[in-house]
Amino acid sequence: MGAIMSAMGSLPANVSTIPMRCLVGATVVFNEPICREHFRLRLGLPGRFSPTKPGQFVQLGCRPPGGGQNQEALLGQCIEWDTAIPPKLTQTELCEELALLRRPFSLAGRGDNATGTWIDVIHRVVGTGTQWLAHLAAGDRVDLIGPLGNQFELPDDKSLGLLVGGGVGLPPMFYLAQWMHQAGWDVVGFVGATTRDLLAVTCNSGQEPDPGGLPTHCIEEFSQFNFPAVVTTDDGSQGLMGRVTDGLEPLLRGLSVPRRRQAVVFVCGPQAMMQATAHLAQAYGVDCQVCLEQAMACGMGTCQSCVVKIHDQPGDIGETGDWRYKLACTDGPVFNAQDVAWA
Ligand SMILES: Cc1cc2nc3c(=O)[nH]c(=O)nc-3n(C[C@H](O)[C@H](O)[C@H](O)COP(=O)(O)OP(=O)(O)OC[C@H]3O[C@@H](n4cnc5c(N)ncnc54)[C@H](O)[C@@H]3O)c2cc1C
Ligand code: FES
Repeated sequence: MGAIMSAMGSLPANVSTIPMRCLVGATVVFNEPICREHFRLRLGLPGRFSPTKPGQFVQLGCRPPGGGQNQEALLGQCIEWDTAIPPKLTQTELCEELALLRRPFSLAGRGDNATGTWIDVIHRVVGTGTQWLAHLAAGDRVDLIGPLGNQFELPDDKSLGLLVGGGVGLPPMFYLAQWMHQAGWDVVGFVGATTRDLLAVTCNSGQEPDPGGLPTHCIEEFSQFNFPAVVTTDDGSQGLMGRVTDGLEPLLRGLSVPRRRQAVVFVCGPQAMMQATAHLAQAYGVDCQVCLEQAMACGMGTCQSCVVKIHDQPGDIGETGDWRYKLACTDGPVFNAQDVAWA
């Protein structure tokens, strides 16, 4: 990964600033496979992107900008056909399987240079939209709406970040590591996957993750900031065999009580993994923030498709107290783990 000039950056006066939350056209800088099914997509933006923070996401158009159709050709045309002979469909939109709605992706990194801003997105190929993204190459154009959502909070009285990411929950942790480095926090990364070739990270050559679960400088996304990381795989094919919580628990247990008070667990990944991590943090009296990647459509508070149950009053995790629906896209995606009604 290239050197990061700045998270928000100071740019020359002649570089335009893209206004808060907007539709912006971007150019693919690169789109590299990281492991089976995962790609790192770097997008160059034409000016200075609005300030962003870790936890925020963008809604990527997963099809050619402009909707994949020649709108001018469609407008004002009167199409007539013989009912016995159906018309031949030639518009891209009608011929190809393309994702109609934009897809949400967490910011995995950001930098600013003399010409504008770049942002990183790490995407896993799971369906129509991400299959289209996988074929992007340098110079291709995409458009996105962002930045969207709230962000992870770095409380002033804390200084130790335990960054826990599983599967497609890893990308926001990389951006958070970048941010925490600038804020002067101590960080340990916890990286989990079912198996070695689904680990969406860059392993440093000659630095195998410790099979006993000790933090080492094995993962470039963390080691570039001098942060160690623990790797776990369900099948033991890399790092510690087990769940990501199996890597986190010994570290929490080893912290002194004052150090636990200075720590915050930040977690993103599958719901069961986030819930288990939140329980573990609570058992050790450590604050926990979760990034809920609820399936969503509009990403900006209109469609109500992304509701999550949040306690009115912070309660014990798992307790079925009073709750109300909140929107993962605008109230979140980041919530205090104590506030989430997991059941
Ligand atoms: C705030 C937010 C941030 C995200 N960040 C990332 C990221 O950094 N990297 C990444 O790879 N993915 C991320 N995701 C998930 C990503 O948006 C989906 O994988 C993507 O929308 C799938 O689009 P598709 O067209 O390829 O798949 P589709 O054809 O739409 O769906 C394929 C399958 O994936 C399931 N699916 C779709 N979205 C989700 C979801 N949110 N949770 C669980 N299952 C889902 C569908 O139900 C279906 O089974 C994020 C989601 C949210 C809400
Ligand atoms: S995604 Fe539409 S309201 Fe949240």
